Parts: sequence; C-alpha cells; structure tokens
Amino acid sequence: MKFDTPAGLNPIDKGRVVGKAHDRIDGAAKVTGTAPYAYERHDAAPNAAYGWMVGSGVARGRIAAMDLRAAEAAPGVLGIVTHANAGKLGKGNMNTAPLLGGPQIDHYDQAVALVIADTFENARDAAKLVRIDYTSEGGKFDLAAEQANAVKPPEGGFGGSPDTAVGDFDGAFAKAAVKVDQNYSTPDHSHAMLEPHASTAAWNGDKLTLWTSNQMIAWTVGDVAKTLGIPKANVRLVSPYIGGGFGAKLFLRADALLAALGARQVGRPVKVALARHQIPNNTTHRPATIQRIRIGADKDGVIDAIGHEVWSGDLPGGGPETAAQQTRLLYRGANRMTAHRLATLNLPEGNAMRAPGEAVGLLALEVAMDELAEACGVDPVELRIRNDVQYDPEAGTQRPFSSRKLVECMRAGAERFGWNKRQEKPGQVRDGRWMVGMGVASAFRNNLVGKSGARIGVDAKGQVIVETDMTDIGTGSYTIIAQTAAEMMGVPLEAVTVRLGDSRFPVSAGSGGQWGANSSTAGVYAAAMALRAKLAEKAGYSVDQAEFEEGLIRHENKSQTLAALAGREGIWAEDSIEFGDLDKRYAQATFGAHFCEVGVDMDTAEVRIRRMGGAFAAGRILNPKSARSQVIGAMTMGAGSALMETLDVDTRFGFFVNHDMAEYLVPVHADIPEQDVLFIEELDDKSSPMKAKGVGELGICGAGAAVANAIYNATGIRIRDYPLTIDKLL
Ligand code: MOS
Repeated sequence: MKFDTPAGLNPIDKGRVVGKAHDRIDGAAKVTGTAPYAYERHDAAPNAAYGWMVGSGVARGRIAAMDLRAAEAAPGVLGIVTHANAGKLGKGNMNTAPLLGGPQIDHYDQAVALVIADTFENARDAAKLVRIDYTSEGGKFDLAAEQANAVKPPEGGFGGSPDTAVGDFDGAFAKAAVKVDQNYSTPDHSHAMLEPHASTAAWNGDKLTLWTSNQMIAWTVGDVAKTLGIPKANVRLVSPYIGGGFGAKLFLRADALLAALGARQVGRPVKVALARHQIPNNTTHRPATIQRIRIGADKDGVIDAIGHEVWSGDLPGGGPETAAQQTRLLYRGANRMTAHRLATLNLPEGNAMRAPGEAVGLLALEVAMDELAEACGVDPVELRIRNDVQYDPEAGTQRPFSSRKLVECMRAGAERFGWNKRQEKPGQVRDGRWMVGMGVASAFRNNLVGKSGARIGVDAKGQVIVETDMTDIGTGSYTIIAQTAAEMMGVPLEAVTVRLGDSRFPVSAGSGGQWGANSSTAGVYAAAMALRAKLAEKAGYSVDQAEFEEGLIRHENKSQTLAALAGREGIWAEDSIEFGDLDKRYAQATFGAHFCEVGVDMDTAEVRIRRMGGAFAAGRILNPKSARSQVIGAMTMGAGSALMETLDVDTRFGFFVNHDMAEYLVPVHADIPEQDVLFIEELDDKSSPMKAKGVGELGICGAGAAVANAIYNATGIRIRDYPLTIDKLL
C-alpha cells in the first residue's frame, strides 16, 4: 500500500483498542523469566559451547605476534577464532571498523580473538592465556585538540547535508539588538542498556541461524551475509526479545559475528555475550560534541539570526554527530546557518544513540535559548512561543509542518507544572539547605518513517496472527501491533497473537530513530486492509460497506464469523506500507515542553531533581501507557546526560576509562522522584494511516537542558560543559 495522500477516516479512527492504555502483552513472559533472550536459547541450540571475546589492548596499531598455545592447552578449550583463521571477511554496510580486528587494529577493545570452551568459565580463563604483542601507532583521542583539524563530512547519512544556510546570517547577527554567542560541550555517552550484546549461533550445513539481540533484522541479515560472504538466504536472524537497545543494537556487532565464526570452527552452536566492561570500548557510543550557538534577536526576543556549529569526531570512514538538526526546524529567523565538522579520532566507533543529533543538540540550543530569554528579559516559555514557526524555516511557507503543537505543549505544560511560581531572578528560592530553581526547554525530534511489511491471518478459532520482523526493544511493539490488528479486524486484544523479530517474517521498518511504532503499525494496517478484502470477498460482501466487529464481518443485516470464513486452512494476507513524498512536502517532527525543578545544596552543591514534567505532541498516541513509559524513561536518560553520564577518555592511550556500571553513572529511581507526562491530542494525517508519530526518542530531547536551566535558576551558575557535576558548581 502506498501512502502518498493524507489519510482520511479509516478503521483505526474507531479507537476501540488503539489509543487505549494496555499492559504489555509480553510483560508476563518477561517478568517471569520465560521470554527467551538471545543468550538463553538452550531450547533451540542445545549443547552450545561458550565464547569469550578478547579485545585489543591498544587503540591503534598492529598485532606483531599472537601466541595461542597456552590458551589452546587450557581445560575445556575447543577452538580460538582469530583474523589468521577466520577466512576472508567482508565489511558490512553499517560498521565503520572491522568487527574482527587484526593484524591492523582500529580501536581499543576491537575484537581480536574468540576463545571457545565447554563452559563459560573455561572460556574466560583460557582467554587470559592468549598472548598478543602489539606495535602501537598512537592516535588522536582528544576532540578539543582536533577541533581545528575537523573537516566538512560528505553529504548524506542520517543528518542529510552537513551544512545549511539561509539569508545573511553574519550580517543579521552583527546587527541584532540582543545576542547570545556561546560554546557548549557534551561528552561521549554509552547506551548502557540492561541486556548486553549477546548472540547464539548454529550452523546447519551452510545455513546459519543467529539468535541475537538486534533492533534491525533486515539490515543485520544483509551485513552478516556480506561479512561472511554467504547468500542472505542462508542467514536466519531471530530476535524476539531485546533487553534495551538505544541504538547500540542497530547493527551487526562482534558478538554475533564471532558466535557465527566460532560455531563454524568448532562444529557446534556457540554463544557469546559481551561482559559489561567490554561494551563501552568494543561497541559504539554517542560521540562527544563541541557546539557554538549564536542567536541574534530584537529586544522582545524575536529571532532574526540563528547559527549552530557542531564539532565531533569518529574513526576514519565514520560520520558526524548531527547535533544541529533541530536548529534547522525549531525556531523562526530569516537568517540561518548550521554546520557539522568531523575530526578523525581513533577512539572506539561513534554511532547512533537515542535521538542521535537532537539529544545533545538540544542540550546546547535550549540553554542558549534560556540565555537569550534572560538577556531580553522575556519569560523563557513566552520566548519559545514568540519564536514558534508553523513551516520549515529553512524552506519557507511552502513547506508547512504536517502538525506542530509546540505552543500548546508549552502552555499546557507550564500550567500543569506551576511555572508561574518560578522566580525570574536566579538564586531567590530557598528550602532549608536547598537552593531551588525551575527550568524549561523545548523538546523536538524528527519524525521519520520507513517501508514496513507484515503478514496477518485468521485461523479456524478466530485467532488473528501477525508476523513481521519488527523488533520490541522494550518499547511495547508487541502490544501496539496487537492493538492495531485487533482494531482492524474487530476482535479483542486477547484474540491476537503477535510474532516478531524473525527474518522469516516480512521485512519491517525495525526499531530505530523513533520510526518503529508508527511505521510498523502502518505496515500491519496495510496487511490488515488486504485481509479484510479477502474475508469480505469470501463472505460475498462489499469490503467498503462491511463492518468488522466482535469477531464478525457484518454487512447490512447479515454477518459471518471470521473463524468460519477462515476455515481449517486459515486466511492470510501480506502487504507493506510504502511512504511517498509526504515527508518531503511537509516537515514532520514531534514536539514537547520539558519542565524541571531542582534543589542545589548550598554547601556541597549536590544537585537533586525534585520533579520533572512535560507535555508532548506526537500524533496519535497508540497506547498511552507504553508511550508514557517511553517518555519517562527518556526523560530519565536526559537527566542522566545533564548530571552524570560521561565516558571519560584516556587521551594518552585512547580508550574509555569508566567502562562499567559502577563508574559510568546513570540515574536510578531515587534520582527522579516525580515525573509527570501529558500528551496533547493530535492526529497527524500526513504521517501515516495510523496518524501517529514517533515518541520513543522525543522524551530525551531537551530534558537535560531543562535540568541545566533549573540549576541556573536555582544558583545563578551557568555551566555549558556537560555533565553538570558538583566540581563545576562549587
Ligand atoms: Mo536509535 S539511536 O536509531 O535506536
């Protein structure tokens, strides 16, 4: 089904099941430990051996010599995979550095060997006996030191063009009555999802099955085939349950490749999980940024010039952190410029992490807006309302937003949070030892859509079955897909079975860039329309006049049950949603307003978030319960980026020092006492037949800036270098 004109009234609009809060249908299996994760496929791959990854001890250089003899002789060892015996490996589309290094080494902890043994303990012990001599070639590890060497990256990629320019930015900025010109910096971030990268691999002849924790099944099948040099048809990927991804599992990574190579070498299934301490350096991370923002406004805060430059680094062949993305679309201003510059760094591979671009771009832009509000003497909520724009400000009025309710979010959020109690002047409010302040920030995240397929059937019992390779990374995909199928087929939620995350199912949009919910349910919508047509035809009714409800197909005063029509064989249909150019004709994005109240200890500068609240507009909210969970989780992650998250770089040797959960700090429940989420009603008929948009990443976007602005309001101390730790406040 092609989606190239705005959606009219359709079966989803009935809203019997879609749009209602439902518990996750996979929840019980998850919390009772019966949902099989990739490392736990004892059922599917019995007799699996265990692999332990050995990572490079240098950041950049070469393997001079490898001595495996002691490891090979250790108890239980079955084999050792290295570059010398793995055979020729291709390079996948999605990886910057080879997943199995050697003899060339591209980054610290790049995999250089997999030791396989009969037990996990034996594999880990033997791995310590692998002797490797390296010649180290040094490298560049310090973004600030390389800033001047950064270059304009190639066109394309997730961020589109690296640079944009409209009007005369320099001239308008020079003439502006009120100016902000500041530099901000954000550190490298680790995804820190609960389930590590983990895979079980088994070969049957030349056919490979990989049970792996992966967000994007079709991308990864392609890259497995490319890397191993085998046909895609010989690769089956199974990823029904994923313990968090945040972008870390968008791609084929070393655990899956090494499991496949190991299983081939030892002739039995092999499972590989990265230990927590291996994740930050072996896998990907969100790259650090340096950002310069210039805003020129009139004395009432109306923006005439806005500029955002971003510097980040990556391995050769990598891409930039596109942190100026939101500045292209968020606020008015006739004169504009954005630019991304990319430095070569020999740190581990940078890549997407939840809301790549906006998550750290807004940490800078929304503090700059707070600074502008103060400079103009305009309330920060009012400042954002004054600078709202209902069309793409780079393209002009001919490209309106498909829907945009930033102003509504600001007003409703401010009212609900009690923003009118905020003192404009910083440092005015005390609560015992605590200096108290409030901050606000806009939330903005692009709305992306992608082609998505599904197969849907009904069986002789009237059970509706949906199959798609869509993944559920903890987001609620199972549930919203079941809701969509139930709505479309007129059956209760319990009458729907959803099967996900298997490359044998139709290719979906997958889970990434907050495109998954809207795109994958639209794919189910398309398949369900096809099934409705088949059922109507079999019943002898006109599909346009037939009603699907209560397990029946009705036409005038006649009806038949879906179960009877399905018969013993069942009836199946398959289709996909394909998106035309509506996302080019209309700017599509999601919006919100974050509010935060903090307390800062007068003596120790300890920062405590007292409450967070937000209002969000993201199209039809398919399931208010799982959507709220997405938003509060993302707000929490935003609070982490404001207050504590940082991968500390050893700039001498080129690795992330704090590579475990004891030292890479993320917020816990006790850090976030109260979170309130309000969804503003919105249907976006240009986004998809679901009239939904993404919501999984919106909540992180701007949340950290609201925290930073609240700290300023509490203390009068403006910090532009994240995270905002005590040492910077004292
Ligand atoms: Mo997302 S960072 O595309 O999982």
